[in-house]
Amino acid sequence: MSEREVLFDLTGRVAVVTGGGRGIGRGIAEGLAAFGARVVLTGRTQSTLDQAAVEMRGRGYDALAQMADVSREGDVVALRDAVLGVCGQIDILVNNAGVNPIYLGIERTSLADWQNIIDTNLTGVFLCCKYLGGVMAGQGKGSIINVSSVAGHVGLRRSVPYCATKGGVELLTKGLALDWAKKGVRVNTLAPGYFETDLTAGMRENDALAAPLIAHTPLGRFGKLDDAAGAAVFLASDASAYMTGASLVVDGGWTAD
Ligand SMILES: NC(=O)c1ccc[n+]([C@@H]2O[C@H](COP(=O)([O-])OP(=O)(O)OC[C@H]3O[C@@H](n4cnc5c(N)ncnc54)[C@H](OP(=O)(O)O)[C@@H]3O)[C@@H](O)[C@H]2O)c1
Repeated sequence: MSEREVLFDLTGRVAVVTGGGRGIGRGIAEGLAAFGARVVLTGRTQSTLDQAAVEMRGRGYDALAQMADVSREGDVVALRDAVLGVCGQIDILVNNAGVNPIYLGIERTSLADWQNIIDTNLTGVFLCCKYLGGVMAGQGKGSIINVSSVAGHVGLRRSVPYCATKGGVELLTKGLALDWAKKGVRVNTLAPGYFETDLTAGMRENDALAAPLIAHTPLGRFGKLDDAAGAAVFLASDASAYMTGASLVVDGGWTAD
């Protein structure tokens, strides 16, 4: 293997990808596995995770499925213990699980809506960093990738709770990067723009909403599942060894305009 290839090689590393069964998380999981990582896919739906793991193993990748709701502390602790029990280590954590179930003005946003989004998008990242990232801090090495959003950098309309969580993830990341730099754990965000996933299906199917978004995107299309994979491999690998507390925006240029 050439020196250049070694930079991106993830052989022998264990990666946990939350929300790894579908969407952007699935694309990231495939990318990490393609570069040699053993990948643990997590989410709330066992059947989705099992199917994804079987498909990935069918292509020669090392993939496991472990159910966990990231908003539940007990689930995250059990996930950590299960991964350590089977794999013995955690080297890469991708906090990708996220929801945005409502597009409403704040007047029509209930406290329950707010709490639901905070629980997964922000508390989930906190819990996974604390318990799975904590393993990395104990090991003295690791890379955490928190999937935020362009909504962590600029405001989106009718998405106050979502923007609040993604802005929170951006600054959680910087704070943790400071705390754990000396422990050998790098912490960065990957901030996607608009991708072709279940999360954006309603919006993409409405031409009145989709057309202006595409028009505002210099690269002229929505992101595809594996468009985030290269950025994730970069942040997970030694190629980004001098990066921590940073945000890598993958949005087709949407925030540049
Ligand atoms: N799609 C976009 O355009 C876009 C843009 C910017 C940022 N993002 C961010 O990218 C990430 C992935 O989004 P996506 O578009 O791929 O969404 P998606 O297709 O809706 O997938 C979301 C994933 O998260 C999992 N999940 C949701 N709540 C969870 C919980 N409480 N515990 C564990 N897993 C949970 C889901 O699995 P289960 O339902 O089985 O649990 C699913 O695997 C999110 O953080 C999102 O905010 C997406």
